[in-house]
Amino acid sequence: VSDHSPLPYERFASAGGHHPSPPSGVGRRREPRFRRSDVYTQPIVDGQELHDGLLTRFVAWLRAATTSAGERREAELHARLRASRRPTRTNTIAVVSPKGGVGKTTCTFLLGNVLAAHLRLRVLAVDANRDFGTLASLAPDETRVERSLTDLLADMEGVHSAPELSPYVSPLPTGLHVLAAPERAEAMAEMSPTTYGELLAFLSRYYDVILLDLGTGIIDPLAQFGIQRADQALVVTTPEYVTADKVLGALRYLNAEGGWDAARNGEGSDSERLTVVLNRAPAARSGDRQVIEAAFRRLGIARHIVIPYDDRLRVMLDSATYTLEGLERATRMPIKQLGLAAARKLV
Ligand SMILES: Nc1ncnc2c1ncn2[C@@H]1O[C@H](COP(=O)(O)OP(=O)(O)OP(=O)(O)O)[C@@H](O)[C@H]1O
Ligand SMILES: [Mg+2]
Repeated sequence: VSDHSPLPYERFASAGGHHPSPPSGVGRRREPRFRRSDVYTQPIVDGQELHDGLLTRFVAWLRAATTSAGERREAELHARLRASRRPTRTNTIAVVSPKGGVGKTTCTFLLGNVLAAHLRLRVLAVDANRDFGTLASLAPDETRVERSLTDLLADMEGVHSAPELSPYVSPLPTGLHVLAAPERAEAMAEMSPTTYGELLAFLSRYYDVILLDLGTGIIDPLAQFGIQRADQALVVTTPEYVTADKVLGALRYLNAEGGWDAARNGEGSDSERLTVVLNRAPAARSGDRQVIEAAFRRLGIARHIVIPYDDRLRVMLDSATYTLEGLERATRMPIKQLGLAAARKLV
């Protein structure tokens, strides 16, 4: 005899004289009167019944046919990002261009966010512009700190832990930290390569990757210091002839003076340290762009990242509401490829 209080259907079954009495045998399990499949006649997916009608199948087929190729490519990219080798020491990445306004700050920010979010690395982006850098303005107002790298330089002796560093760096939702340039451009002008070196040595204790938004130009002593010091460099251009021509000149200079041998920048070579970004590319593949891409290839840069002009990205950056997943796949993919290109060069 079972001692549990009977469930409604059990009570009904034992009270009703018309039902055949259960087979004799004390303690024997009674057969359930109905099954779950009697209630749920269709498969349940995400708490909803799946109606496998012709229309549903057609819609599912259409969806798979139109989006699955892109989704698959993105999933593969994610897997490769996740599988990236972790750095064995702090890596410094210099972001440079001989031209202003091409997207150096944007690329620093985009790359930093991918490395922080997808590789779960501790990443710091430093505004190393000589005057009036804009990097820290990309952090939301609520979390942006007032202090700058010159404040940190002054107080460095008293900072011994990550929490003590937090009043100096602005955190982004991805985990990326940003270190601002001082408000007063004169304070930045006083920075010498030596003080910069001290700052970077100090920051290396707390971060896996340090990105340097070096501002316009590559001959400036501060830019030179950053380029020499960096493990890899991101060279940013737009697809206009005038800009790309300057960038090609800069790449030749880096090859000749800096040992940044673009000619060895081929696939499979472990000496590749340069990534070229063609930013703000128009949606349609223009003739100029093909000519520019061919010129890069002649210099030995077999592959580069093309980030399209995307007004949504521009607005997100300006309003400090950037999220990678909020962008169209056409912009999202190259940003993730940029992350992968840099991740593959981590040492
Ligand atoms: N792919 C893009 N699509 C749309 N807008 C972009 C894109 N890349 C950059 N921008 C916008 O272009 C402007 C210039 O970009 P950014 O500030 O990154 O350039 P920069 O090279 O750092 O400039 P500067 O030489 O002044 O430091 C910004 O308003 C930015 O939001
Ligand atoms: Mg900038």
